[in-house]
Amino acid sequence: MAIDAATIAVDAADKAATTDSANKGSAVLGKMHFLARDPKYAHEKPYTLRYTPAPESGIPQTNIARVEHAIVFHDWRGRNDLQYEECGFGLAKLDEALPYDDFADSSQIEGVHAPRVLQAVRSALGAASAELVDYVVRRRHAAWPVSTGEPYAFQQPASRAHIDHTYAGAVAVIKEAHGDAAEEVLSRRWQLVNAWHPLKGPLVDWPLAVCDARTVDFARDTMAGDVVDRHQVFENTQVHFGDKQKWYYLQHQMPDEVVFFKNADSREPESATPGVPHAAFDNPLTTDEDFRRESIEMRILVVW
Ligand code: OGA
Ligand code: FE
Repeated sequence: MAIDAATIAVDAADKAATTDSANKGSAVLGKMHFLARDPKYAHEKPYTLRYTPAPESGIPQTNIARVEHAIVFHDWRGRNDLQYEECGFGLAKLDEALPYDDFADSSQIEGVHAPRVLQAVRSALGAASAELVDYVVRRRHAAWPVSTGEPYAFQQPASRAHIDHTYAGAVAVIKEAHGDAAEEVLSRRWQLVNAWHPLKGPLVDWPLAVCDARTVDFARDTMAGDVVDRHQVFENTQVHFGDKQKWYYLQHQMPDEVVFFKNADSREPESATPGVPHAAFDNPLTTDEDFRRESIEMRILVVW
C-alpha cells in the first residue's frame, strides 16, 4: 500500500503565489506524478521493461507505483535568481530555429539543428566541448494520456518525475559512447545535460517542469531505478514527492528557447545537486485552441 496520500494540500504561501504576478511571475496550480513511498522499495528496485514480457513469464511490465500530488509550477521566465550552477537548469536562446517541418527529417536534426543546440549549451556553460549522445522527438497523440491500445507512433510526454541517469548510469552511457577513450573523458569534469524545447510555440499543452535541485533531499526523495531493454539496462533516478521541492516551468516556451538541465555530474557523490528532477504536466491553462505538444530533447555530454 502506498503511504502517500493521493494529493496533498498546497501550503498557503504557494497558493498565494498563484495569484501573485507582481514580481515573481505567474504560477499555475497543477498535478504531477511521483514514485510512491511504497515499503516494497526497501527490497525491490523500481523497474520498467521497454518490451512486452511473455505472459507465461509472469513478469509485470513495471513495479512502479505512482502517486499524484498537487504542485505549484512557478514561471521562471525573466528570473535572475535561478542560476544553473545552483538550481541545475538554465535557458539558452538559439540564433536560428529549425523550421517545424524539418523536425520530420533526422538529417536536418542531426546535421543542422544539433550543432546549433550544442553550441548554445557549450557556450552557456563555458565548457570545452558538448557532444550529442542521443535525442528524442515527442509528439503527443490526441488520446494520450489515455491508451489507444496500439503503440504510439512517437514517444509521448513523460509524466512521472525522474532524472535521466544515476551516476553509474551516466558512466555506462559515456563508456558506450567513447569505448576505449572513455577513461580520459571520465577523468575530467563532465556532466550529462538535456536540452529541451517545443517544435512549435508558444507552448501551453503539457509543458516540461523542472525542480530546483537545491530543494530536493536526494537521500530521502530519490532512488535508482532500472529501464530494461531486451539487451541492455539503463539506470535512472526515480523521484518521490517532497514538500520542500520547488517546481518551475517556462511559460509559453518557444522553439528557439532551449531549456537545459543537469542529469548527471562527475562531482557526484560530493555534489549536493547531482541532477534535476523533471517531468511534463497537464497544464490547467490549456484551451481547445492550443496545439498538442511536440518537442525535442537532446542528451548532451558536456566536458570542461
Ligand atoms: C527529458 C524528459 C519529458 C517530456 O527531456 O528528459 O524527460 O515529456 N522529457 O518531454
Ligand atoms: Fe527525462
